Amino acid sequence: MAKVIESISEWNEIYNREIKGKKSLGFVPTMGALHKGHISLIKRSVKENDITVCSIFVNPTQFNDKNDLKNYPITLDADSILLENEGCDYIFLPTKEMIYPDNYRYIVTETTFSKTLCGAHREGHFDGVLTVVLKLLNIVRCNNAYFGEKDWQQYNLIKDMAKALFLDCNIIPCLLIREPDGLAYSSRNTLLTPENRLKAPQLYRVISSNKPLDVMKEDLRNLGFRVDYLEEVEGRILVAAYLGNVRLIDNVQR
Ligand code: PAF
Repeated sequence: MAKVIESISEWNEIYNREIKGKKSLGFVPTMGALHKGHISLIKRSVKENDITVCSIFVNPTQFNDKNDLKNYPITLDADSILLENEGCDYIFLPTKEMIYPDNYRYIVTETTFSKTLCGAHREGHFDGVLTVVLKLLNIVRCNNAYFGEKDWQQYNLIKDMAKALFLDCNIIPCLLIREPDGLAYSSRNTLLTPENRLKAPQLYRVISSNKPLDVMKEDLRNLGFRVDYLEEVEGRILVAAYLGNVRLIDNVQR
């Protein structure tokens, strides 16, 4: 039975009594609305560690758009069942007050890479991500933390933060998982209209087409996407584009 943890002191007690120095601990931080992408991280953590904890916290500081935060799907009952079925041991459900007792006075900022790609279009987004991940890693004190490569920029920033701040934890990348039609799993997919849901897999098809970047951008525009960016970094094509008011991101190795 996955145990729900609703306070930091409750987690500290369990950690000190049952885990510290005795068992390896894997951690999967999430914002809930779990899908097969998240489940692949949980499976990996369960396989590689004695104990797995998953946090569900819709982190307000990483949303630059109030409506995006308001519309973010919350599916706690379904999430708990999925986690239970996968053998996750603990579900950590912190509140905003627990995570931000400082009212977000202390912020982790990366000054270079975080200002590009998604960071160039979502002001403050990666400050919010890095700050919450550092806080969660400090609270949970895991050996291994798992992040999906769909958020390739996020994964790299977190990996580099762990190195820069000498965090005692492995940051482990996990492969991007796609729906049968090629659309990368994302909690936001459920917000697409039925018509845009049919269109959405074209994002993957276009960035896999091996055409010049400008041609790919044009192809996406012709299909009805509003492109935030489409760039090549380290041999990888990275894209963010809107269908209606839903922002999708994806990436493929060139
Ligand atoms: O990838 C996410 O779901 C979030 O950015 C994370 C890492 C849980 C931080 O809120």
